[in-house]
Amino acid sequence: MKYATQKLAYPYFIAALSLFLVQVLAGVLAGSIYAIPNFLSESLPFHIIRMIHTNALLVWLLLGYFGAAYFLIPEESERDIHSPRVAWLQLFIFVFAALSAVVSYLSGIHEGREFLEQPLWIKVLLVIAFLLFLYNVSMTVLKGRKTVVTTILLLGMWGAALLFLFAFYNPSNLALDKMYWWYVVHVWVEGVWELIMASMLAFLLIKMTGVDREVIEKWLYVVVGLALFSGLLGTGHHYYWIGTPGYWQWIGSLFSVLEVMPFFAMVLWCFHMVYRSGRNHPNKAAMLWSLGCPVMAFFGAGIWGLLHSFSPVNFYSHGTQITAAHGHMAFYGAYVMLNLAFFTYALPQLRNVQPYNQILNMWSFWVMTAAMAFMTFTLTFAGVLQTHLQRVVGMGFMEIQQQLGLFYWMRLLAGAVFLVGALVYLYAALGPASKQVSPSATLQPAIK
Ligand code: HEM
Ligand code: HEM
Ligand SMILES: [Fe+2]
Repeated sequence: MKYATQKLAYPYFIAALSLFLVQVLAGVLAGSIYAIPNFLSESLPFHIIRMIHTNALLVWLLLGYFGAAYFLIPEESERDIHSPRVAWLQLFIFVFAALSAVVSYLSGIHEGREFLEQPLWIKVLLVIAFLLFLYNVSMTVLKGRKTVVTTILLLGMWGAALLFLFAFYNPSNLALDKMYWWYVVHVWVEGVWELIMASMLAFLLIKMTGVDREVIEKWLYVVVGLALFSGLLGTGHHYYWIGTPGYWQWIGSLFSVLEVMPFFAMVLWCFHMVYRSGRNHPNKAAMLWSLGCPVMAFFGAGIWGLLHSFSPVNFYSHGTQITAAHGHMAFYGAYVMLNLAFFTYALPQLRNVQPYNQILNMWSFWVMTAAMAFMTFTLTFAGVLQTHLQRVVGMGFMEIQQQLGLFYWMRLLAGAVFLVGALVYLYAALGPASKQVSPSATLQPAIK
């Protein structure tokens, strides 16, 4: 770490990890309600817990990207962040908005659209925080060395901010409402967030493999091109049954196939760079996460996404547990693991500790990843059964839910194991720094 303002990332990462814990705890509560349907039904109903679960997820992922930007931009641009004060103000507003959202959900105040439930004034605060961020990092990048990594990262961040503006547009026509809703929900995760993912991975690869920047950047262009080309029209896979014209059946099905490509390219890219370098970076845990991320994203987003993307399949599977299975593994693989990889790389430098307990961190990788895989499988089985009973046999929704009890218990079990993995990660990342793993294993020089 060379620049003092890189330290700005630290409070962002702490805030992100705290909300990660909130998110997972809310998930376990929501999963308990699935297993024991009347659990908490009077005091804290399911829909409120679900809002906290999904909103905390999105907010902590964003906090992770902000922190990562403050960490990597000084090194890429070869200058300090334009204004540390603005960065602190942004953090304060963002966290305040997030906590206010939780309080307002708990008091039953929310808007109806899934993921965008935040009351209007909180949405405005989020936009203000986003603008402060964009101003701060854009100024830094404009005045410094320009690299492909920062250009793509900024493109992703600007794109995410602009698309969020569609959250303010809520037409009363339900078909139009859904159309614009997906501009945020789909184009974020299958468009601009993929740019953020690719640029953060590129930075990690440049630092850890030592492969020439030019080589890594060439791949970055390919991934970004594939992501935008496939992801924008891929939105069609959400336009099958909402009242949009029939041509979306074809566009959605075709472009969903292409959507697998950027994720597959990222797998090839990361493994190829790591094998090509042959260099043994001392932060093995960060390397593990950086390789695990594209693999799990490929399965969760690519394979589990494609699974239900063809319109004749989606006709049956739409809105079942299959969707939830895909949502979990995709978010976990692509964006949760991305952030956990970046934290694992940056935190030892930010905290000025020598290789912290990497063994524990790597255990948390395997525990969380295995638990998430198991959860995805149980939800997939539940979803296939649900699809069959509901859409083929024609049984009633609630009757089917009772048949699925066993799967929901197994999902809860997987969730509890995931929670343990998350706690181990937190301990390894933020707990007392443990002694050096091997004498040669020193990380980058710490900040003076
Ligand atoms: C980092 C880990 C996790 C991620 C990325 C994640 C992500 C998500 C997402 C994206 C949704 C919305 C799904 C949809 O709309 O189809 C969701 C809902 C849900 N999650 Fe998680 N989650 C995680 C951990 C957990 C854990 C540990 C549990 C515990 C069992 C859990 C239980 C649930 C439940 C019960 C729902 C509601 C599903 C529904 O409405 O049918 N999640 N989660
Ligand atoms: C990292 C990238 C991705 C993430 C985080 C993600 C996440 C999600 C989530 C949370 C939902 C549920 C939305 C809701 O509440 O209704 C969803 C739905 C869906 N996703 Fe993805 N997804 C990703 C990539 C993909 C890809 C690449 C494909 C196709 C190849 C895909 C196909 C679908 C389809 C077809 C649905 C609608 C399911 C239904 O009809 O119920 N997704 N995705
Ligand atoms: Fe999508």
